[in-house]
Amino acid sequence: MKIAFFSAKKYDIDFFDFANKKYEFEIKYFETRLNEKTTILAKNFDVVCAFVNDNLNSEVLKNLKENGTKLIALRSAGFNHVDLDSAKKLGLRVVHVPKYSPYAVAEHTVALILSLNRKIHKAYFRVKENNFSLDGLLGFDLYGKTVGLIGTGKIGRIVANILKGFGMNILGYDKYPNNEFSGKYVNLDTLLKKSDIISLHTPLNKETYHIINKENIRKMKNGVMIINTSRGGLIDTKAVIEGLKSKKIGYLGLDVYEEEENIFFEDLSSEIIDDDTFVRLTSFPNVLITGHQGFFTCEALTNIAETTLENIYNYKNNTLNKNIVV
Ligand code: NAI
Repeated sequence: MKIAFFSAKKYDIDFFDFANKKYEFEIKYFETRLNEKTTILAKNFDVVCAFVNDNLNSEVLKNLKENGTKLIALRSAGFNHVDLDSAKKLGLRVVHVPKYSPYAVAEHTVALILSLNRKIHKAYFRVKENNFSLDGLLGFDLYGKTVGLIGTGKIGRIVANILKGFGMNILGYDKYPNNEFSGKYVNLDTLLKKSDIISLHTPLNKETYHIINKENIRKMKNGVMIINTSRGGLIDTKAVIEGLKSKKIGYLGLDVYEEEENIFFEDLSSEIIDDDTFVRLTSFPNVLITGHQGFFTCEALTNIAETTLENIYNYKNNTLNKNIVV
């Protein structure tokens, strides 16, 4: 099996080469993202391995099919970047890694909450400059406060368990409630109204697109903290910026951003960022952004590499019976 591996970073190559010792597949790593212009690189490869910001729209899929691709092996849980209807019509099999480390993302979510609340990102730079003033670093006890989790799947439930340990009241809203959720289910309006912290853990789909919008922000507590480690499209960024300006939103922690595909995963420190909305977000003192690193732990990268290669192995041997998207 020949694998064309897009958006390859050094850490991907390290973890995949290690896991591939078991399979010895031929993997060609391409640093570039997959899009209409780069599909040609995958010519005559059986498998295309793609990540979250690769673009698998209908045109890309059509080109891949014509060039001999049979399997799209996503090394992500989410598949909102794939035109699944087109893949189905073209007879392209798509597999993913449904669970690699929900702990990684859940722990990063809590890291954002704690850092924003106690202003660790500011304290770090102050102390480096021998500025030991506490002005502006005032936080609040998490104990006794209410967190609302929108989405109580694998990640949301772990966040609930961790924050329970802090003595928080846990509310949850989910289209498909789960018995293992350790908090209390309420409807979305109640969650928006009662939560001091709101954290997003649903996939991005037609129903969840811009679930944090002007109307829903209006229902929230003054000074609410919003955390998004799921997908950028869950938040209407312009509405959130208005909420920050009016001080309705007191804190914003993001690991994902709607237009992140043009920004994240690259070193742009010498470039001019021409996304004015993103630059406006970074200008707020109460906004903390990380560049889609929730998944980035040793355990998660090991699981991603092992599961992706196992998916490909099972496909090759006609034993694929799990992790199928279409
Ligand atoms: P999951 O599939 O276990 O849970 C998602 C939950 O959302 C389910 O309980 C489902 O019922 C609920 N849901 C679906 N549609 C809904 C709707 N319309 N309204 C309310 N609830 C709805 O997924 P998991 O593993 O917990 O991941 C959650 C999200 O985290 C993923 O979809 C992905 O976008 C994101 N993620 C982010 C990573 C990062 O590095 N920042 C890494 C991995 C995942």
